[in-house]
Amino acid sequence: MPISTLALNDGHQVPWIAFGTGTALFGKDAEEAIRLAIDNGFTHLDGAQVYRNEDTLGDGILASGKPRSELFVTTKLGALQPGATPKSALQESLKKMKVDYVDLYLIHQASQHVGKLKEVWKGMEEAQKAGLTKSIGVSNFTADHLKDILEIATIPPAVNQLEAHPYVWKALQPNLAIHKQYNIVTSSYGGLSPIFRGKGGPLDPVIEQIRARLETTRGASVSDGQVLNKWLKQKGVLVVTTSSKAERIREYLDTEIVPELTADEIALIETIGGELHKRYFPGNWPPE
Ligand SMILES: NC(=O)c1ccc[n+]([C@@H]2O[C@H](COP(=O)([O-])OP(=O)(O)OC[C@H]3O[C@@H](n4cnc5c(N)ncnc54)[C@H](OP(=O)(O)O)[C@@H]3O)[C@@H](O)[C@H]2O)c1
Repeated sequence: MPISTLALNDGHQVPWIAFGTGTALFGKDAEEAIRLAIDNGFTHLDGAQVYRNEDTLGDGILASGKPRSELFVTTKLGALQPGATPKSALQESLKKMKVDYVDLYLIHQASQHVGKLKEVWKGMEEAQKAGLTKSIGVSNFTADHLKDILEIATIPPAVNQLEAHPYVWKALQPNLAIHKQYNIVTSSYGGLSPIFRGKGGPLDPVIEQIRARLETTRGASVSDGQVLNKWLKQKGVLVVTTSSKAERIREYLDTEIVPELTADEIALIETIGGELHKRYFPGNWPPE
């Protein structure tokens, strides 16, 4: 099944859903998980220097036998070692992943580059100009962080990856406004939090109601996770998720052909989700 794409503000396209090697795979060997994800249809792989598994992410790509040109690979810049630049750090990542370029390179955390964000963004632009990455972006950036780098950017960020689900959607509004202004794609992690990290919240009956309606419309099974991922997809969000199970990996990709949520269902998720402010990755993305 072909995976639909989102347009980036630099002319490139990005598959709407990515398989991540953080959280459950953080600091662990990711080869088997990546091979499983690719074998079951994922083409977009989300890594990071801080996950300490770029080498096995690359091993997973090789083990899958999938040509590099058919994959979309993201990695993220961690804290810079003395003397290093975003470009030299990416060169290290490419070596570990055994690829010549990535498709997307993000600054992982603004908090790792305090007082130096403008300089680091210039370094990201250098990495892109050198052909080491097709697109550049950020992660966990607040609206203020974005404004800071936009003062000097000759290339605006293509993506901002942050915790995004209905329990933070209201708090994300200042971000979403600036993303819209600069055509920055919002990317989510933790998108499934309401159904397991935050089970028991006000959205539980809403998700069940929508899930049951979609299942009747479809005439085939629809999961709670698909309701949330479909909501994110219809909001134009790039979803970054993960799983240890082939069946769930296929379910994530099957979200594409789940019937659309109605405008009322989307509004209900946002209204009821807005009744609770809850973040599951504290420290990653201020403010609380
Ligand atoms: N930029 C950043 O700072 C940042 C921070 C965090 C994460 N990330 C990226 O985002 C990726 C995904 O992160 P995430 O874990 O937050 O994604 P998520 O989509 O919120 O959750 C995925 C996890 O949900 C579990 N799951 C799915 N459906 C479930 C259900 N019905 N019941 C119970 N568990 C269920 C899966 O476990 P199973 O194995 O059981 O399927 C999997 O571990 C990471 O790997 C990383 O690449 C980035």
